[in-house]
Amino acid sequence: GKDKIVVTRNIPEPIVARLRDAAHVFLWEQDEVAIPREVLLKEASDASAIYTNLTDRIDRELFDAAPNLRVVANLAVGFDNIDIAEATRRGIPVGNTPGVLTETTADLAFALLMAAARRIPEADRFVRDGNWKSWSPMLLTGQDVHGATIGIIGMGRIGEAVARRAKGFEMNILYHNRSRRPEAEQALGAQYREMDDLLRESDYVVLMAPATAETGKMIGQRELALMKPNAIFVNASRGTNVDEEALYDALKERKIWAAGLDVFEREPIGADHPLLALDNVVVAPHIGSASIATRTRMAMITADNILLGLAGERLLHAVNPEVYEK
Ligand code: GLV
Ligand code: GLV
Repeated sequence: GKDKIVVTRNIPEPIVARLRDAAHVFLWEQDEVAIPREVLLKEASDASAIYTNLTDRIDRELFDAAPNLRVVANLAVGFDNIDIAEATRRGIPVGNTPGVLTETTADLAFALLMAAARRIPEADRFVRDGNWKSWSPMLLTGQDVHGATIGIIGMGRIGEAVARRAKGFEMNILYHNRSRRPEAEQALGAQYREMDDLLRESDYVVLMAPATAETGKMIGQRELALMKPNAIFVNASRGTNVDEEALYDALKERKIWAAGLDVFEREPIGADHPLLALDNVVVAPHIGSASIATRTRMAMITADNILLGLAGERLLHAVNPEVYEK
């Protein structure tokens, strides 16, 4: 019979229509809540493909529940929600959406950096609350972005795109990465630093490393203590890369100056999250790649990955190409 695709979140209608041309589609139509675990397990039981995202755990239990599964595609560049080793063991290719979201995500990282530096959300609240009585020399003064030193941790595609923006602001660019990036050093004047040196020297520390076994809480109390008192920390990667309690303490005690955060240890966070009690924190709800154009492209690439996988062809972007070597 026809293949079945489980789509775990509402996506643009033309893309659903494309999938329906090829297979039966189960679509979880709600935007506000993720598909409940038991619904996902049940719908996956006769599925050939799962069109998923960061809010679904695709783990051994799920693979066990889905014996006919031939492809999984994640609507994201990151894939820490998926047990890749388990997928590979079963010969199931896993797709993601690198490339298309690079510039959009760098835009957001830079927006958070600038918003934290110039206290834009605080300024906005100040005016809305009717507190603007007069111009005053030191009112809502912040930090300069231009000419400052930025330290980028994780010099992948997105890290490099952040560095290009920094170059336009005539910033001094430092980076730390598992491997040196001679092209970035050449093209952008970026200088490699050991982690501790980067933390000591940077006015802005921007974390763009993916979430892996090695990066968990890579920014903790020790790292924050190395940062300058005027340092602004930006995280647009994964919340699990940071020890959030240590970050809270550093911000509250003003050991660093501010933070701009798109990601959190456990998402979503509620209005009662401790970080939200601090004025020197600017937050966004994990919207790094969320421009209309980019999210639409990501949704299309995810559909391409699904349809190629069902046809037994190579995905546009497989995170575990080892499955093709067997
Ligand atoms: C979003 O965080 C992504 O990984 O695309
Ligand atoms: C993602 O595109 C990255 O490698 O930074």
